[in-house]
Amino acid sequence: MPQQVVLIPGDGIGPEITAAVVRVLEAAEARIEWVRHAAGAEALAPEGTTLPDALMEAIDEHKTARKGPITTPVGTGFASVNVALRKSFDLYANLRPTRSLPSLPTHWGDIDLVVVRENTEDLYSGLEHEVVPGVVESLKIITERACLRIAEFAFVHARQNKRHKVTAVHKANIMKLSDGLFLDCARRMAENYSDIAFEDMIVDNTAMQLVMRPQRFDVLLLENLYGDIMSDLCAGLVGGLGLSPGANLGADHAIFEAVHGSAPDIAGKGQANPTALLRAAVMMLRHLGQGDVADRVRAAVEQVIAQPALRTRDLGGEASTSQFAESVVAALA
Ligand code: NAI
Repeated sequence: MPQQVVLIPGDGIGPEITAAVVRVLEAAEARIEWVRHAAGAEALAPEGTTLPDALMEAIDEHKTARKGPITTPVGTGFASVNVALRKSFDLYANLRPTRSLPSLPTHWGDIDLVVVRENTEDLYSGLEHEVVPGVVESLKIITERACLRIAEFAFVHARQNKRHKVTAVHKANIMKLSDGLFLDCARRMAENYSDIAFEDMIVDNTAMQLVMRPQRFDVLLLENLYGDIMSDLCAGLVGGLGLSPGANLGADHAIFEAVHGSAPDIAGKGQANPTALLRAAVMMLRHLGQGDVADRVRAAVEQVIAQPALRTRDLGGEASTSQFAESVVAALA
């Protein structure tokens, strides 16, 4: 019996990489029935809203979605659809694994860490206003409830995945109340997990340490904005945004996507690397209990990336998005 999953192609490179994922999962005989819905600019013209009711009802009903990137206009225009989806379904944990691929030469060949990003508050609350002309205020909301549950998520994830250390990242030297609360909650939670080492680190130092000695990290626990920035940095450590997947997880719902955005600079050119979204699909398959299919897709993707001639342009190859997908299909065991 196939499991129903909401499929949001997204915009920019979204439709191209979504087609690649659908092709590979079909060939891998994933037991999935896609329920397609548009969101963002794709939905705005025909439906008059970026988040149509039918989409929201489908996610609520089917619990799991696979989302392509969605453009958020800079400075003006509609609010982020990505942020709205995370808040609407209380997807409080954004899990972004960063792992080197043995076959891909990068500065570091032995990185295996995971970013755990709080996904519902911080400066993403969207509460901004102009106090007087020339002065704006943007509210950073940090709550004890959200800090404790994301800290708990990080420690539980560490324990379940045989990881040994959680590093809480903050700027509590400057934001003594907001980041101070985040750090205090992480410290309190750490007391319940004596089998997992705990440390904290100021965010600017963390950025430097990640570039110089990423192997010293295991699980990074961050607020929303720091988590967003640091996970792009982590993607860069292992070969770029074309490779890095993410999962937005709540108590009842989950949305799987790539870390990257809609990449307007290469949209429509058939150049996008679908690996990040394929790896997100692998995470989704495991979440759905289809570990057998997940293993086959992961192995096939790694086998293709191991052959330089079959790589996409961001990794120095010549393959188009669809050629890459066909190579993965051919490599499926
Ligand atoms: P971006 O992640 O779309 O692109 C950054 C750079 O990485 C670009 O040079 C792009 O060509 C490259 N890149 C990204 N994905 C790639 C892939 N799969 N293969 C090869 N190269 C890839 O970031 P940018 O340009 O800052 O944002 C563009 C739009 O995406 C914005 O509207 C932003 O709000 C949105 N966005 C959406 C996200 C989501 O849907 N979850 C996440 C991040 C950004």
